[in-house]
Formats: sequence, C-alpha cells, structure tokens
Amino acid sequence: MSHRDSNQLITDPQETIHLLQKELAESNSGLVALTLELEQRVEERTAQLREAHNELRKTNTELMQLTLELEDRVTRRMEEIQKLNQELEARVRERTAELEASNKELEAFSYSVSHDLRAPLRAIDGFSLALLEDYEQQLDDQGKDNLRRVRAASQRMGQLIDDMLDLSRVTRREMRREKVDLSALARSVGEELRQREPHRQVDLHVAGGAVVIGDPHLFHIALENLLGNAWKFTGKKERARIEFGVAEDGGSPRFFVRDDGVGFDMRYVDKLFGAFQRLHAQGEFEGTGVGLATVQRIIHRHGGRVWAEGAVEKGATFYFTL
Ligand SMILES: Nc1ncnc2c1ncn2[C@@H]1O[C@H](COP(=O)(O)OP(=O)(O)OP(=O)(O)O)[C@@H](O)[C@H]1O
Ligand SMILES: [Mg+2]
Repeated sequence: MSHRDSNQLITDPQETIHLLQKELAESNSGLVALTLELEQRVEERTAQLREAHNELRKTNTELMQLTLELEDRVTRRMEEIQKLNQELEARVRERTAELEASNKELEAFSYSVSHDLRAPLRAIDGFSLALLEDYEQQLDDQGKDNLRRVRAASQRMGQLIDDMLDLSRVTRREMRREKVDLSALARSVGEELRQREPHRQVDLHVAGGAVVIGDPHLFHIALENLLGNAWKFTGKKERARIEFGVAEDGGSPRFFVRDDGVGFDMRYVDKLFGAFQRLHAQGEFEGTGVGLATVQRIIHRHGGRVWAEGAVEKGATFYFTL
C-alpha cells in the first residue's frame, strides 16, 4: 500500500504528512467498500435465512395440522372399534344365552324321551318273559328263541337308554369345585376293576400327587370310563400294563391313561368321543359307546381338553388337561 520505499529518505515532514493522509484516505475508502460489501452479504444471508425460516414454519404448521388430523382419525377409529367390540360382545352374550337355552331344552327333551321310553320297553321285556314262562308248552323252539331275542334286544336298548340318561345327567348336574386327588381316585377305580375281574393280570401304575380342583363325582366317572376302557381293551392280553400319569405341558399338567391293549386306528380318532360311536364290534368288546362322550363332557365342563393317541395292536393313550 505504501508508495514509499523503506530505504527512501524522508526530507520534508509536510510531504510525509500529506503522503500519510493520502494513504489513510485510500485505506478508509477501501474499508468503507468492504463494509458495504459485508453488509450486503449479511443482508442477503439474512433474507435467505428468513425465507428458510418461513418455509420451516410453514412445514411445521402443516405437520402439526397433519398430526392433529391423524390423532383425530385414530381417535375416531378407536371409538368405532370399541363400539364394534361392544356390539360383538353383546351379540356373543346373546348367542351364548340362546345356545345355552336351546341346549338345556334339547337336554331336557332327550332326558324325558329316554325316560318315557323305559316304560314301554319294560313292558316288551316283561310280556316276552311272561309269554316264555306261561306259554312254554304251546311255543316251539323257534318261537322261544325269537322271544329270547326280543328280550335280549330290549335289554340292550334299556342299557342304551340308561347310558344316555347318565350322559345327560353329567351335563345337567350342578358342578362342585373342590380339591380332588386324582391319583387316589385312580387307585380306587383300579381296585374296583381288579375286584370285578380278579383273574386278570394287570400291572397298574399310578403316578402320585395329581391333585386338582373340580367335581369329585364327575372325576370319578371320567376315570372309571378311561381306566375301564384300558382294562377292557387289554382284556385279550395275558398280562397287561395300565398307567395313570402326569406330564408337564407348557407349565400346566397333562394327565394321561395309557394301556398296551388292542389300540385303534388313528384314522378314526375323531369318532371316539362321539356318543354311541365304537371302533370295536360288540361281539369283540362289550359296550354302548357313551363312555368317552361322557369323559369329554366332564373334561369340557372343567374347562379342559381331551384327546387320544393309538395304533392298532399297539395300545392307546388318552390325555386330558383341566
Ligand atoms: N383304551 C382303548 N383302547 C382301544 N380302543 C379304545 C380305548 N378306549 C376307547 N376305545 C375305542 O373307542 C370306542 C368308544 O369308547 P367308549 O368308552 O365311548 O365306548 P365303549 O367302551 O365301547 O362303551 P361304554 O363305555 O359305553 O361301555 C370304543 O368302542 C373303542 O372302539
Ligand atoms: Mg367305555
């Protein structure tokens, strides 16, 4: 910036001042220009920032509006869902009540029909017997045999009716809820079975400590049927093994009755629990086919599940949870 050479000799102070003044004026005007330029740039940047800020504010407002709208929509949708839920619950309650009522009606109907069927059936059996006894001389062998068949059929029908009434009672009965020791119950049912057929060789294993809450009378019926089946369907074995056990099933107990008897074909497993459904012929194993239907009703009444696994000639296992 200086026009002076550092080596130049200054002789005139006037001239020096003048030179300095000129230099100052020059650098001053440079400063002014710089300041102006800076101010302009600051203004420009401020304008840009303001614009950006305005845009941000606009976006923000839009976002807030959108959020409010969304919140509104979510609230409305939730209210709709709540209303739908309430309607559904009300409908389920109504339908359940209707079903319960019609179930009760049906149950009452089948109960009274079964009951009413007993009297004429007793008459058929009784009069057949009277015929056989009082008219023995007049009847030939064929006639007597026919009458015996009538009696056998009516007695079988009587058994079916009794079983149906028992099945119906299981559903109609008022349920009790108390502590029940299933292990003890299984042991006593096993003893009853052994007393009925003392000649049978059966190893009965009962796991201890299976204590549950439920109706003792209903559990007794269920175990009678399950252990009774195990006993019956191992009847052809020289020595049979029957087990009542408990296994853990995801934290809750799963009870089972297992045998090494004739078993069954898994293809028909769905039929087992239906009333009067049998997989074995009457001539082979006696029964009416209501045992497992009864067991299923009892387990369902306790809020549990029952199912079976088996294979022909390889035994069967019946599981239940409560
Ligand atoms: N432990 C078992 N082993 C093999 N088959 C079985 C066993 N338990 C049940 N079943 C099959 O399931 C059918 C239905 O069993 P359910 O107990 O209902 O009737 P049932 O024993 O034949 O007659 P009821 O119990 O009325 O005297 C049986 O007829 C049999 O075919
Ligand atoms: Mg049975």
